[in-house]
Parts: sequence; C-alpha cells; structure tokens
Amino acid sequence: MTFAITGVTGFVGSFLARFLAGRGHTIVGIGRRALPEDNLLRSILETYQCIPLESSADLHSWWKIDCLIHGAYDTHPGREEINLQGTARLAHLARENGVKQQILLSSYAALRPASSGYAQIKAALEQSLRSVAATVVRPGLIIGEGGLYGRMRSFILKYPILPLLNGGANRVPLVDITDLSLAVEYISKDIATGAFNLFMEDVPTLREVLTEIRSKCRRQTLFVPVPTLVALAPIALAERAGIRLSITTNNLRGLVSNDQVAVRSDLSTFIPNPRAWRDCIH
Ligand SMILES: NC(=O)c1ccc[n+]([C@@H]2O[C@H](COP(=O)([O-])OP(=O)(O)OC[C@H]3O[C@@H](n4cnc5c(N)ncnc54)[C@H](OP(=O)(O)O)[C@@H]3O)[C@@H](O)[C@H]2O)c1
Repeated sequence: MTFAITGVTGFVGSFLARFLAGRGHTIVGIGRRALPEDNLLRSILETYQCIPLESSADLHSWWKIDCLIHGAYDTHPGREEINLQGTARLAHLARENGVKQQILLSSYAALRPASSGYAQIKAALEQSLRSVAATVVRPGLIIGEGGLYGRMRSFILKYPILPLLNGGANRVPLVDITDLSLAVEYISKDIATGAFNLFMEDVPTLREVLTEIRSKCRRQTLFVPVPTLVALAPIALAERAGIRLSITTNNLRGLVSNDQVAVRSDLSTFIPNPRAWRDCIH
C-alpha cells in the first residue's frame, strides 16, 4: 500500500513511516518545512512534500495514495484553528482526489473534551473528519523514543527532584508505539471504520509509571507531590508570555484528567497480545 503521513518528522509520524516502510509499504512524507539533507527519513520516503497546516499547498501525487494518516499537530498556543482548518482542508483534498482511506491520530483525551484545549480540538477534529469517513484512532500516552513519554523519561534522567502532579494518583492509559503502528497497519488493510481506543487494559497511575521509569533508568529521583494547580500556574504564565517549554499546560491537564478509565480499549481487536506497560518502559 502507499501511505501519505502528515507530521512525518514527528515522534509518531517518523516511527510509523519507518515501521510501515519496513513492512513493504511505500511512504509519502508530508511535513511543514524542508527536510535537511542528512535526515534519515530521506532513505525510506518515496517523496517528501512541504504542506504546513496553515498553507494552501496541495499534494502532487494524490492519485497514488491508498491511505492518508493525519499525524500533524501544532502544539503552540493559539494554533487551534490552524489544526482544525488545516487538517480538514487536507482531508477534503484527499477525498476529492480519490484517496480511499484516511486515519486521524486523535487521542484518548478526545473522550473528555472538557479536560483541556488539546482534548477539545481533538474532539472537534474527530467530528470534522466524519464528513470524509476518516477512521479515528485514540491512543493513550505513547511509549517510545519521544513525545510526552520521552520528555517525562528525560526529566527523570536529568533532575534529582520532580513535582508529582496530584500526588500521581490519576490513571494514565498507555500504548506501546510498535503496537500502535501494528494496529494502524491492520486498520488500513481492513479498511476498518469507526473510532478505536488504543491503550493497554492495565491502566497504571502516573505515580506507578514514573516510579517504573525511575527504576529502569536506575535513578533516585525524588517525586514531590504538588497540587495540579500549583504546577500549572508557572507554565500557564510562560505560555501567556510566549515562552516555549517542553511541557505544556495541555500536557499536564492530560496527565491528570483520568480518575478512572470509563471506556473499553479496542487494542486487543488488532493486537492479540499487546505488550504489558512495565515491559515497554526502558
Ligand atoms: N505522543 C503521544 O503520546 C500521543 C498520544 C496520543 C495522540 N498523539 C497524537 O499523535 C500525533 C503525533 O504526535 P507526536 O507525539 O508525534 O507529536 P510531535 O512529535 O510533536 O509531531 C507533530 C508533527 O506535526 C508537525 N507539525 C506541527 N505543526 C505543524 C504545522 N503547522 N503544519 C504542519 N505540520 C505541523 C510537526 O512538524 P515539525 O517536526 O516540523 O515540528 C511534527 O511532524 C498528534 O496528532 C498527537 O496529538 C500523540
């Protein structure tokens, strides 16, 4: 199959591109800026095109695409409309040009739109892409070499003391990036439609996840429980001042949005034996 992947330079997009290419698929990469000469993606992408979400650019080769995966997401504050309009524009172009299948990388957060601005946009994107019959996948926090999980891990490697939001009591649905990629490939082959919640059945607390990372990284990091509002305040101030940090208020709100997990996971529909979260943490 030929996949076009937006956000192909990101954590999930680049992994998916490598994973699907490794399984014999052809990948057309879509990003927002020119790909440096030494970027490793060059060796696996058939072509790469710059189509920022805010642009009016068009893909040259829709005719060869079997499945468009929407992975691009602009996390800057104030980019909500760009995420919505830019993703919808590409989705409609793909549909008009005969692309049979589209997959939206949404988030588990979309099930609780009130929890954060990010969750609200993801829920709105799901709604908007219904008009092109896109399949929605809602991963939990993705375990791999990047994303919010990767940043949490790098904080533990770097700092001796870290705040523990809400005492780490909230539940964090997790999915391994390889299992997620297998599920996406399965969905694309089957042209499965609908919305799929992709996370492991065993949903640990934030404290359990951080403690496991600390143990695997052989660190002594001290976790200091803090109320969520106390942790949010300085980050919200920085965002208002236009300062970019590696953790956003949306990230924090996402981590403390689940007291319990009220929906069923669909992961085992696609992956008979999903990896256990403790085995994925490295
Ligand atoms: N990571 C997770 O745990 C997780 C969990 C659930 C859902 N998701 C969803 O999965 C998708 C990928 O997440 P990720 O962790 O891979 O994020 P990421 O590493 O930040 O990647 C985002 C991608 O979007 C691109 N992008 C940003 N702004 C853009 C714009 N204005 N126009 C076009 N492209 C733009 C980025 O390009 P640059 O490389 O140039 O910045 C990058 O390629 C997102 O939709 C995210 O919401 C992620």
